[in-house]
Amino acid sequence: MFIEAGAESVNEGDGTDVQACLVHMGRTGAVGLQSLCDHPQKDAQHHAQHRSVALHEVPQPLGHGEHPLAHRQAGEKAYKIQSTVDDIIDQLIELEADRKTTLVGIGGGVITDIAGYVAAVYMRGLKFGFIPTSLLALVDASVGGKNGIDVGLYKNMVGVIRQPSFILHDISLLKSLPHKEWVNGFAEIIKHACIKDAAMFRELEANNLAVYQKKPKLIAVLLQRNAQLKAKVVQEDEFEKSVRRLLNFGHTLGHAIENEYALMHGHAVAIGMTYACHISEQLSGFKQTNRVVEVLEQYGLPTYMAFDREKAFNLLKMDKKREKKEMNYVLLEKVGKGVVKSIPLVQLEKIIQALPK
Ligand SMILES: NC(=O)c1ccc[n+]([C@@H]2O[C@H](COP(=O)([O-])OP(=O)(O)OC[C@H]3O[C@@H](n4cnc5c(N)ncnc54)[C@H](O)[C@@H]3O)[C@@H](O)[C@H]2O)c1
Ligand SMILES: [Zn+2]
Repeated sequence: MFIEAGAESVNEGDGTDVQACLVHMGRTGAVGLQSLCDHPQKDAQHHAQHRSVALHEVPQPLGHGEHPLAHRQAGEKAYKIQSTVDDIIDQLIELEADRKTTLVGIGGGVITDIAGYVAAVYMRGLKFGFIPTSLLALVDASVGGKNGIDVGLYKNMVGVIRQPSFILHDISLLKSLPHKEWVNGFAEIIKHACIKDAAMFRELEANNLAVYQKKPKLIAVLLQRNAQLKAKVVQEDEFEKSVRRLLNFGHTLGHAIENEYALMHGHAVAIGMTYACHISEQLSGFKQTNRVVEVLEQYGLPTYMAFDREKAFNLLKMDKKREKKEMNYVLLEKVGKGVVKSIPLVQLEKIIQALPK
C-alpha cells in the first residue's frame, strides 16, 4: 500500500471528528456516502456535520453510517454524467456537507472522475482524495487531477484539473476485480510503455496477464511504475501545454468510439492506439505497428474495428486537442517515444476514412 501526493491524515485527533467524505462504489453498483467517523450509531447528518462522508460502490446493502447517493447497473455506460453529479450534490446538501468536508472517491475511474469533479464544484471546492479500486484507476485515472463527466457521446467534455489531497493505492483491492477489468486496465499500461518506456514495453512483451496476476510483487512494481510515470509527466506539465499531451495516445479516436459503441474505456483506447500506430506509419515514420498490435492482443485487448468512419470523425473533431482547424494528434516515432503532430482536419478526415478494418 502506498499513499501519494501531499497526503493528509483523514483522521483528526481521537478519530471522532474526521474530515473526510468518501465516494466509493461496489459490485452491486450502489453508490453511497460513507462516514469515516467512529460513531456508526449516529445518523447521516451527524456524520456530515463531523465532515465525514463517502461516495463509493458498495458490495452489499449499506450499513451504519452509509447513505446511498445514487445507483447504477454494473457496466452501465451513461453514468459519468451531469444528472449523477446533480444527484450527489442534492444529497451532500441534505447531509449539510460544508467546506471543511473532504470528499473521498473509492472505486474505479468513473467514481474517481465524478468524485473529483463534484469536489471541485460543490460550494466552489472541497478537498478530496482517492482510493482507486480498479487497475485502470490505480495506474491512470486516480493520478493527475483531471476529473469530469461525459456529455452525450462526448467523453470528458466538462471537467477540471485539480489535484487530490491524497491517493491511497492498495493493490489488495484488486482481489475482487473481474478478469475483464484487468484486461481493461492493461490498455493504459501499454499506452504508458508505448509513449515513454521502451523497457516496460519489453517487460510486457515477455509476460502476460496470468503471470502478473500470479505474482503480486511483479504487479505491485508495475502499478507503481505506471502511477509514477504518469505523476512525473503531470508534475512537468499539469495543464497539458506540452508533454502531458502524450498521455492522450490512443484517446483521440478512442474517445470518439467509446460512448458511440458502449466500449470499455481500455478497449476504446486499445483500438485508438492501433489506428494511431497506422497514422504514425504515414506521418512519423513508425515501423513497429505489429509489435504494438501483438502486445495488445497478448493482453486480451481489441485492435481493429469496423466502426463508422464518418461518425467517428465528426465526434473526433470536438476533441479537446483540436486547435481551430488542426488536431494535435499523439503518434509514435518508435516504441517508447511518443510525439505530438498537428494534423489539418481535412487531412485527418481522409486518413480516418482510409484506415484498415
Ligand atoms: N481522470 C483521468 O485522468 C482518467 C484516466 C483514465 C481513465 N479515466 C476514466 O476512467 C473511466 C474508466 O475507469 P474504470 O475502467 O475503472 O471503470 P469503472 O469505474 O466503471 O470500473 C469498472 C468496473 O469495475 C468495478 N470495480 C472497480 N473496482 C473493483 C474491485 N476492486 N472489485 C470488483 N469490481 C470493481 C466497477 O464497479 C465497474 O463495474 C472512464 O470514464 C475514463 O474516461 C479517467
Ligand atoms: Zn484513458
